[in-house]
Amino acid sequence: MAEVKIRINSDRELTVVPGNSLYATLTGAGVFVPSACGGRGGCGLCRMKILKGAESQPFTKPEKHWLSDEERVGSLRLSCQVKVLNDLQISIPEQLLKVKEYQSQVVSLRNLTYDIREVRLKLIKPEKMDFRPGQYIQFKIPAYELSRRPVFRTYSLANDPASNSEIELEVRYVPNGISTTYIHKYLKEGDEVTINGPYGDSFLRNDTTNVILIAGGSGMSPVKSMLLDMVAKNDRRKIRYFFGAKSLRDLFLVDLLREMEKKLADFRFIPALSEPLPEDNWPGETGLITEVVDRNLADVVDAEVYLCGSPLMIDACLKVLRGKKMPEDRIHYDKFG
Ligand SMILES: Cc1cc2nc3c(=O)[nH]c(=O)nc-3n(C[C@H](O)[C@H](O)[C@H](O)COP(=O)(O)OP(=O)(O)OC[C@H]3O[C@@H](n4cnc5c(N)ncnc54)[C@H](O)[C@@H]3O)c2cc1C
Ligand code: FES
Repeated sequence: MAEVKIRINSDRELTVVPGNSLYATLTGAGVFVPSACGGRGGCGLCRMKILKGAESQPFTKPEKHWLSDEERVGSLRLSCQVKVLNDLQISIPEQLLKVKEYQSQVVSLRNLTYDIREVRLKLIKPEKMDFRPGQYIQFKIPAYELSRRPVFRTYSLANDPASNSEIELEVRYVPNGISTTYIHKYLKEGDEVTINGPYGDSFLRNDTTNVILIAGGSGMSPVKSMLLDMVAKNDRRKIRYFFGAKSLRDLFLVDLLREMEKKLADFRFIPALSEPLPEDNWPGETGLITEVVDRNLADVVDAEVYLCGSPLMIDACLKVLRGKKMPEDRIHYDKFG
C-alpha cells in the first residue's frame, strides 16, 4: 500500500503505512498518545484535533460518548477511532511530543492494603523523568496468560517530583484485570518494565490561596505526589485533603499524612469511612466522601480543587462542587476508569 503523510502541528511530518488507527500509527512511530484502554474507545484520553483528512470518516459510538457536540464541531476526534487512510493534518499539544519511553527496573513492591500495591521503579534509560505532581505514566504489560498481546495501562505518579530518578505507583487490584493481575500476582523485584510519560493536565497549580484534594482508593497516588511537593516547597497555603474509604482496612499511609500535617503550615487530612465495621471503632468522619466534603467545605474559598478516583466518585463530587458554585476552571480531575 502506498505510504501517506501525517503532518503534526506546523513543523513535523511522519511518513507511514496506512491501514491502522491513528492512535496505533502514532504510537508505533514513537509519538506517545495518552490512553487508559489501549485503543479500545473506552477512556476518551486519546483525543486530538484532526484538522484535515478525516472528514469522510463518521464519528463512532465511543466518539459520540466521549466528545461533546462542541468538541466534535471543533475537529476533536478520538485517535483510536480514526483510521489512517490518506494524508492527515493533526494538532497535538507540544508537551505530548516531549513524552518519552523509559526502561526501568522494579526496586521494591509493598502491599499498602489488601488490594493496593506500591510499585517502586528505578529509571534506567533515560535516568530521570521530569514531571509535575498529579501527572501519570503508561505502564506496558507484556503478553501473558490474560492477554495475548502487550497492553498499556495508565498509573499516576505517587512520588515527589524532585526525586525523579525513581518513580512510585499505587496500583489497586481489579479482579481479572489484565494489568492489575499482572502487577499484583506476577511482577517481581528486579523485573524490567517499560513505561512512557509523563501525561496529564491535572497537575498542581501554585497560584491560589487554598488547595482542596479529594480522593478515594488509589486516587491517593497523585495526591501524595502533590503533598510531597508542597512539603518540599514549604507551601504556606490552606490545604484540605478528603479521602474516602469503605472501612479501616481501606485506609493507608495515615502515618505519613499525619506527619505532613505537622510539617505543613495549614494542612488537614480528613479521612472518611463510608461503611465502618463495628471492630473499626472509628472515631472520625463517616459517610460518602461527597457528604463529608459537603459538610466541611463551606470555609474554603478561592481554592483550586483536585479530584482523583473512580468516575462515579468524581461525578458525584463534581455535582457537590458545582452546587457550591466552584468555577469549572478551578476543578481538575482524572477519572481512574
Ligand atoms: C488518568 C488515569 C490515572 C490512573 N491512575 C491509577 C492509579 O494511580 N492507580 C490505579 O490503581 N489505577 C489507576 N488508573 C486505572 C488504571 O489505568 C486501570 O484502568 C486499572 O488498573 C485497571 O486495569 P486492568 O488492566 O487491571 O483492568 P482491565 O483489564 O482494563 O479491566 C477489567 C475489567 O474491570 C473493569 N475495570 C477497569 N478498571 C476498573 C477500576 N478501576 N475499578 C473497577 N473496575 C474496573 C473493566 O471495565 C473491565 O470490565 C488510572 C486511570 C486513569 C485514566
Ligand atoms: S485510547 Fe482510550 S478511547 Fe482511544
